[in-house]
Amino acid sequence: MTKRIGFIGVGNMGTAIIRGLGTRNDLELHGVDHNETRLGELGKEFGLSSQASAQELAQVCDIIVISVKPQHAESVVKRITPELNSSKCLISICAGIAQAQLKKWSDSLCPIVRVMPNTPALVNKGVSAVCLEDSDLTEEMKKLIPSVFEGIGQVHILPEKQFDAFTGVIGSGPAYVFYFMEAMVEAGVALGLTRIQATEMVKGLFTGSATLANESSFSVTQLREMVTSPAGTTIRALMHFDRQSVRGDIMDGIFESYKRSKELGK
Ligand SMILES: NC(=O)c1ccc[n+]([C@@H]2O[C@H](COP(=O)([O-])OP(=O)(O)OC[C@H]3O[C@@H](n4cnc5c(N)ncnc54)[C@H](OP(=O)(O)O)[C@@H]3O)[C@@H](O)[C@H]2O)c1
Repeated sequence: MTKRIGFIGVGNMGTAIIRGLGTRNDLELHGVDHNETRLGELGKEFGLSSQASAQELAQVCDIIVISVKPQHAESVVKRITPELNSSKCLISICAGIAQAQLKKWSDSLCPIVRVMPNTPALVNKGVSAVCLEDSDLTEEMKKLIPSVFEGIGQVHILPEKQFDAFTGVIGSGPAYVFYFMEAMVEAGVALGLTRIQATEMVKGLFTGSATLANESSFSVTQLREMVTSPAGTTIRALMHFDRQSVRGDIMDGIFESYKRSKELGK
């Protein structure tokens, strides 16, 4: 049976999820946002119906996605609470907002699903954590909701207690990758490549290496060993990284991010 799914906030992430849903015929799309131009475009492209207010959207939809910035989540959830009931489902993609908090704001009137996507979701290559721990969730919703997020990449069903670990490794992860890419571009420039050349080469390197890791049956360690010939160039760089504790520093950095995520969730 067709379900009505509504997005409160069709900014970067809301739009990415809508695009990922494409033309699924088991979901009818609704949206509300201050940006009427964007709503109109999503209407033309995906048949999304614009609603006049968050309350009206919550009234007509079975699944309501809170895709506003985290600082706006509380007022939005409290505003739609009179429209909620046990047959509906509230999904929050707002970073750092715990399920218990969402339950409290919505007077526990409907089941809640907390989802944490990362930025490559903007190009359908995200990795999302989905928490399906709310005991009020129906089996139908437990199947349907992960499939909504499969449209923007990988989906991992995780207990909420692992969301801080997920944030440290994967939520913040794109920044670590871009940081390493930046350092490699600067090294290329230091060695005489133009910044444009170095940037294109480094992007190709990351895309190619990720595709190789995905498509190969070898582990990432075996793939790294394949580039590390005896007395060659690569081992010299890796020896330097190991002497400087680069691996341990990366792990410590991720641990700091994990601790900060725990602090913010308190
Ligand atoms: N972007 C990411 O990669 C990413 C990754 C993980 C999680 N998230 C989470 O996704 C959520 C959305 O992030 P985003 O980057 O998509 O933000 P965004 O681009 O700013 O989109 C939010 C949209 O919601 C609109 N809005 C705000 N209050 C509203 C209201 N009361 N009713 C209707 N629309 C309203 C905003 O309009 P105005 O601009 O006019 O206020 C804006 O168009 C955040 O909670 C964030 O933590 C994002």
